[in-house]
Parts: sequence; structure tokens; C-alpha cells
Amino acid sequence: MKDKPKKNDLAESLLVSLIDLNPQTEDFLTAVMDGLSAATKALPCKFFYDENGSRLFERICSLKEYYPTRTEISILEESVAEIAELVGRGAHLIELGSGASVKIRTLLNALPDLAQYTAVDISRDFLLQSAVTLASDYPDLDVAAVCADYTKPFQLAVPQNRKSVRNVAFFPGSTIGNFTPDEAENFLAGLTGVLGSGSGLLIGVDLKKDADILHAAYDDADGITAAFNLNLLSRINRELGANFDLNTFRHRAVYSEDLSRVEMHLVSQKSQIVTIANKSFNFAAGEHIHTENSHKYSVSDFRRLCSKAGYVPVSSWTDRNDQFSVHYFTAK
Ligand code: TRP
Repeated sequence: MKDKPKKNDLAESLLVSLIDLNPQTEDFLTAVMDGLSAATKALPCKFFYDENGSRLFERICSLKEYYPTRTEISILEESVAEIAELVGRGAHLIELGSGASVKIRTLLNALPDLAQYTAVDISRDFLLQSAVTLASDYPDLDVAAVCADYTKPFQLAVPQNRKSVRNVAFFPGSTIGNFTPDEAENFLAGLTGVLGSGSGLLIGVDLKKDADILHAAYDDADGITAAFNLNLLSRINRELGANFDLNTFRHRAVYSEDLSRVEMHLVSQKSQIVTIANKSFNFAAGEHIHTENSHKYSVSDFRRLCSKAGYVPVSSWTDRNDQFSVHYFTAK
């Protein structure tokens, strides 16, 4: 008797290709050990997005306090005809940090004749589920998936049967704000190497605004953002055999006007010792673990940063209330 194909294989057969660079396992332990051994404790934010974290983040995106998602979608909807014109026909659209791939639908509906859509995400299961759903909703579109940490050089799945295509990266959600300005510049400069000269970059960037609005967006009343931040500690418990007591850490979001960024922290509520992989870490009462930054820019600041990184500013769009911006650049 022949083996029936597994459910997963069937789903994956909807994709034109799947590249798995196994990004999750490589350095979680090292990063956690290094981050918690530093004088100022910190954890790198890319580890937020395990399956549970990705789901919690989807819930953040629909919170009333979290304006970036809906504002970015409204800008994309209003500017989609202009964007389609800039992207041109037959392009290869590459989404960095595709998550649930919601925003991309606005683009896909308006961009006919794409050579391919490639979703790139660090969270494998989440990536596969959403790429497969997209492939079945857009049967005429070639959908590829790359499971990778896109902050490092990665391979692109090259569209079949097309000799030369223009790559256009879509990097929404103001994820670029989670880098420091220097890191952002280096990352974007490096990305031109993956995309190639002449490529497009469509990128969403959160704008500077009143501290109260920012504070609410990063510390919502329902505590979803707190749960998202604390999930990092559950993940360390689960995957690295640690013993963080989640009831003794609190989520804290603070806006630094000086650095134009919201900082996310986890604050130890008491003096305690936590063990991770047989190593002990001391926490003083009130000690912070810095888990994420979310930098805010002005339109001109961001265009300047991209110019330094090797891009030519083409168009920038904002919403009526100047809360969020979307930009189109081309790589030199
Ligand atoms: N890119 C998102 C942002 O900076 C990520 C994010 C939103 C986030 N809320 C968060 C990260 C809370 C950590 C904690 O807006």
C-alpha cells in the first residue's frame, strides 16, 4: 500500500518553493545567555515571534490603542494605484516578516501579473500557514516561502521561467523602527545586496508623535502587549529549561524623547535568582530587562537615513493625521 501524502506535504505543494534556513534553533541559548550576562540586561526582540508570540502580535495589531496597523493599511489602500505604477508589471514581490500576510492582500489585489510573491519570516509554522492560505486564495499567483532571519544575508527563491525580474521588497509594520538608526542603515544597505541594484523598497515607518498616544499603543488596557512581552520569558522557560516566574515580572513601556523611541522592558518585582541551563542570574528588585525599541521618525529623517543606506527616495505617503508613513525607494 502506498503512503498517503502527509497533510503538511499537501499544503506545501501549493507553494512554488520553500527554503528553510532553520533560523530559530541556531542561537537562542547564546543570545539569551549573552543578553542576561550584560551589565544592562537585554534580550533581542526577534525571539518574540514563536507561534504563541506571533499570535499575540496579531492581537496587538487589532487593538484600538495600536494605531500603526490600521493606519498603514489605510495609507496602502489610498496609495495603491500609485504604488502599482511604481512597482510595474511582472515584479517579484518579497515580504520581509510576512506574519499573517494581511497587508499584502491590498497590494496583491492591485498588482496584476506579478512574477512571484515570496514570504520571508522567522516563524516557520506561521509562515507556512499564511503562505499556503495565500496560495489557495490567489491560485494564479506563484507563492514561495523562505524561513529565515532576514537580518542576516538570505537566499531568495528565484521566480521560475522569468529571466530578469525586478525585486521589490515590502517591509511593513515599522519593523525597521525596531533597529537603532545605525542598525537600520546597515540592515538596509545590506539588503541591497540581496535585492540587487534597481530594486524597489516599499516600507512602512511610524512617525514621531505625542507620548500619550505612543504609551497607550505599547501598553494597552487589555494587557495583550504585556502578555506578548512576557511570552519571551515563557519561551525561555519552555525551550531552554529556565525557571522564570512570570508573576514576578511586569511589562513596562517608556517613551524617550531624546532617542525618539518607545522602549519595552520587563521589570523584576523582587530580588530573585533565575536559572537557565544550569547558570544562575541575579535580578535586583526593580531591575529591567530591555526587550525592544521602537524608533519613531519624521518623513525627512527617514528619507535621509535611506539615502545614506544607498537608496533613492521616490515617494512618501502619510495618513491625514500624520501618524504613520509609507515610502517607496529604489536601490542605487
Ligand atoms: N514593529 C512593532 C512596533 O514597533 C513591534 C511591536 C509592537 C512590539 N508592539 C510591541 C514589540 C510590543 C514589542 C512589544 O510597533
